[in-house]
Amino acid sequence: MRVFVTRMIPEAGLTLLRKEAKVDVWPGPEDETPPKEEIIRGVRKADVLLCLLTEEIDRAIMEANPRLLGIANHAVGYNNIDVRTATALGIPVTNTPGVLTDTTADLAWALIMAVARNIVQGHQYVKRGRFKIWGPKLLLGMDVSPGGRGKPKTLGIIGFGRIGQAVLKRSKGFDMRVLVYDPLQKETIEQTEGVTYRELADLLRESDLITLHPALSKETHHLIGERELSLMKPTAFLVNTSRGPIIDEKALVKALQEGRIAGAGLDVYENEPDLAPGLMECENVVLLPHLGSASRETRDKMATMAAMNALSLLKKEKAPNTVNPEVYDTEPYHRRIEGT
Ligand code: GLV
Repeated sequence: MRVFVTRMIPEAGLTLLRKEAKVDVWPGPEDETPPKEEIIRGVRKADVLLCLLTEEIDRAIMEANPRLLGIANHAVGYNNIDVRTATALGIPVTNTPGVLTDTTADLAWALIMAVARNIVQGHQYVKRGRFKIWGPKLLLGMDVSPGGRGKPKTLGIIGFGRIGQAVLKRSKGFDMRVLVYDPLQKETIEQTEGVTYRELADLLRESDLITLHPALSKETHHLIGERELSLMKPTAFLVNTSRGPIIDEKALVKALQEGRIAGAGLDVYENEPDLAPGLMECENVVLLPHLGSASRETRDKMATMAAMNALSLLKKEKAPNTVNPEVYDTEPYHRRIEGT
């Protein structure tokens, strides 16, 4: 049995796979994604494909091998895979939920603190040798906690899945007022203590800090565009650790350039790794290279989980973390597993 791995993953996952299968890792540079022809070549020889969020897995790749038993994505988000086509072709697709929830929520908070308190600007100020004297007006940010008799700040959480909920948990220590928008989780939000459901426009109008956590779909693509940005307070900050295309990045650059919002903290980009023109030059942003789940512990867990999913797929079992479980009842799936 063979697994094709598109890019090098942590050893924990590879070791697990090698116990039960022959593993082919694309031999190209570690910081590149394989060209599509190379993925197709790998898939032709494989029983299962293990891919990363950097690979777009489309119909041509899936159709390259009628014996392919499944696709294991090394990520919780799976917008890089055409799941609808996979289901139609009888191919199960798995992801890595749960193991990166806390790590990603921590990073959202790191960005919240960074934008509100000028962490990166301060770091650059010191490194460039500009720190000559403590100043009563030096790099003043915005309080996140109310402090003294201050008014609580309002945190707006958009998307209330696992990560959005973990962000809420971390907000408790900052004594914030929390508003949440997620039409798919309205009931959960209404039953959650300490938060209030708000429609998107109202959340945008009322929040001081807005953090994005929806999955990327047709419905959430450009959820935050020019109109939405125009509703935000000029003193408010926007943080995105979900997926880049949730924000219309061109509109965001314009809002930042015109000072219509106070700033943004971004871990993800609309056309990753490219940035919208002008974004790099904005002073009021903190930009990270998609580090949401980037801790040694979490990446080991993700690799292990992706490998376990891949092994289940190899054994023609119903794999844990299948994002299209309905596939197991389809004829194309049964034809596929019987044909191998
Ligand atoms: C990271 O972005 C993931 O979806 O796992």
